[in-house]
Amino acid sequence: MQPLIIGRHSVPFPLIQGGMGVRISGHKLAGAVAKAGGIGIVASAGLGLNSHHYNGRNYYAADKAALAEEIRKAYEIAPDGVIGTNCMVAVKNYDDAVRTSCEAGAKLIISGAGLPLHLPALTADWPEVALVPIVSSVKAAELIARKWKKSYDRLPDAVVVEDPLTAGGHLGASREEIEAGGYEQYATVRGVKAYFRREWSLNIPIIAAGGVWDRGDLLYALEQGADAVQMASRFVVTEECDADLAYKQAYLSCQREDIGLVMSPAGLPGRAIVGNLDGVRGYDVTQGTRCPSGCLKKCTYKAEQDRFCIVHALDRAQRGDVETGLIFCGRNAWKANHIGTVQEVFDELFAEGIDAADAV
Ligand SMILES: Cc1cc2nc3c(=O)[nH]c(=O)nc-3n(C[C@H](O)[C@H](O)[C@H](O)COP(=O)(O)O)c2cc1C
Repeated sequence: MQPLIIGRHSVPFPLIQGGMGVRISGHKLAGAVAKAGGIGIVASAGLGLNSHHYNGRNYYAADKAALAEEIRKAYEIAPDGVIGTNCMVAVKNYDDAVRTSCEAGAKLIISGAGLPLHLPALTADWPEVALVPIVSSVKAAELIARKWKKSYDRLPDAVVVEDPLTAGGHLGASREEIEAGGYEQYATVRGVKAYFRREWSLNIPIIAAGGVWDRGDLLYALEQGADAVQMASRFVVTEECDADLAYKQAYLSCQREDIGLVMSPAGLPGRAIVGNLDGVRGYDVTQGTRCPSGCLKKCTYKAEQDRFCIVHALDRAQRGDVETGLIFCGRNAWKANHIGTVQEVFDELFAEGIDAADAV
């Protein structure tokens, strides 16, 4: 069994729990994953909304306070574990989320939904915090590495390669590219690995994200050249996932054909359960809302009331309103058939170990 080592941090199992914004992965899930021997990730986006810090008018202050609190509580569950955060470049309070993560003791920052070109500047005072960009192409990894080296004399400690054909949430390719289906996840994983070896003599972990559901998928990813996997949807159907039970039940009852693409007001496609999209869009129309929180740097809803307010749609789903809430999920979420514990997921994935025979 190969431990996963990212920068100065190491865990026994080659597994990161993917950040899931607007409190799908808060302290309970991240803490449980870290306790089980993986890397637990608190997603920073929109964390304040369903928290006691939020009073309806203080979105940014509540987000900041909630993020620090969630990291602290995750460490209460796993005092010696590795807890990190997911910070989305596309949100307006990105810089604040990164700095707050570092102050509160996050051991790594995973950052995507845009190119995290300035991430090392934000974390300069915390050199022990590992930096992990999310990309969906070799080109994006090259751009980030060149910029970081030139401007900050820093390179990534690991890279997450996220498959737009299978991952949940916001995706790193256009709708047309995704629908054309030509993307090859493991060619990208190997390409990114080779790039860092060739260009920088660096053997950093390359982590495959998207569509990994069971032990067979995990072994396949490792066999295809990934050093570890990032899994998100599978962890939604755990007792520890921070979402309401109705959210988890939506995964249990959805079929393969219920999962599709939705254009986010952030300008990116996202993968979600699409059966209730009329309800998601209709909510803002009937309520007459106009950008209640201003959370995104660029937002078609804020600019011209096009599409819907995504952060509040995700928040409604997280609280259990599956009629008008947006339920992000990966392409394999239909495989969910019961709610178990995080430890059970680890037992299934790793109980037999990963020996050379399995992984070759
Ligand atoms: C409900 C949900 C919310 C997500 N939110 C985020 C997020 O806030 N930031 C991010 O970078 N990725 C987000 N993702 C992507 C995951 O972190 C992960 O990379 C991806 O879903 C992995 O694929 P899987 O769900 O098939 O395991 C989200 C995924 C899901 C399912």
